[in-house]
Amino acid sequence: MRLVLLGPPGAGKGTQAQLLVDRLAIPQISTGDILREHVQRGSTLGIQARAYMDRGEYVPDDLVVRMVMDRLAQPDAREGFILDGFPRTVPQAQALESALAQAEQPLSAVLKFAISDDMAVRRLSNRWTCPECKRTYNMEFKPPAHDRVCDTDNSALERRADDDELTVRRRLALYREQTAPLEAFYRERGLLKEIDAEVREAEVAVRTNAALGVVP
Ligand code: AP5
Repeated sequence: MRLVLLGPPGAGKGTQAQLLVDRLAIPQISTGDILREHVQRGSTLGIQARAYMDRGEYVPDDLVVRMVMDRLAQPDAREGFILDGFPRTVPQAQALESALAQAEQPLSAVLKFAISDDMAVRRLSNRWTCPECKRTYNMEFKPPAHDRVCDTDNSALERRADDDELTVRRRLALYREQTAPLEAFYRERGLLKEIDAEVREAEVAVRTNAALGVVP
């Protein structure tokens, strides 16, 4: 299955992508995660991307498209993939469409997770992530067993630099302006499946399975 996950910041794309990895045995390709790894190791791409990311702006299309095409060429993406956070602009969607058409591997579906702006702010201001295993927690909805420590590897949990309310509101505005047009782009192609994601994580997973026709 070749999937794209769409939805505003905090909609639960990363959370649902991880559950789909277990269910479908195909890799999650999160452009946010890949870019943060570049920033962490100080690569040329990381240095270029950092300023955009900290301000809650999008990294330029040419950089992101090249990065995703390299990732899709890896052997583990041959049997399918879950694109989490890509595409985010019409030029990115067009680049993906033509690359997949050339490979004769069109998308299977695009899932759009919908939540309100206030819920996005509430979820992201409570998000903490393990810097080692990347597991995501939420102090309100999914707290770790011990305060600010990862259940899996005991690492100290961290907050993301772009999760303060002002930056989240900026990211939400950018989503509406640049990414929401992709909903019509994929609806026209008969690929869009919309999921009301303002319910608990397990219920979103049930809705996702139903939308994809996957038996849990
Ligand atoms: P990215 O990391 O992709 O951020 P995002 O799209 O803003 O999405 P988030 O990771 O914030 O939210 P999510 O929907 O994955 O929610 P999550 O599952 O974590 O991108 C970061 C930046 O990188 C961008 O701003 C941009 O600068 C750059 N970038 C990335 N891709 C790019 C591209 N293609 N082009 C250009 N630039 C790009 O959940 C959030 C919280 O809610 C967690 O705490 C979770 O536990 C909790 N939660 C999840 N589901 C539920 C639920 N159902 N109920 C209660 N709590 C829940």
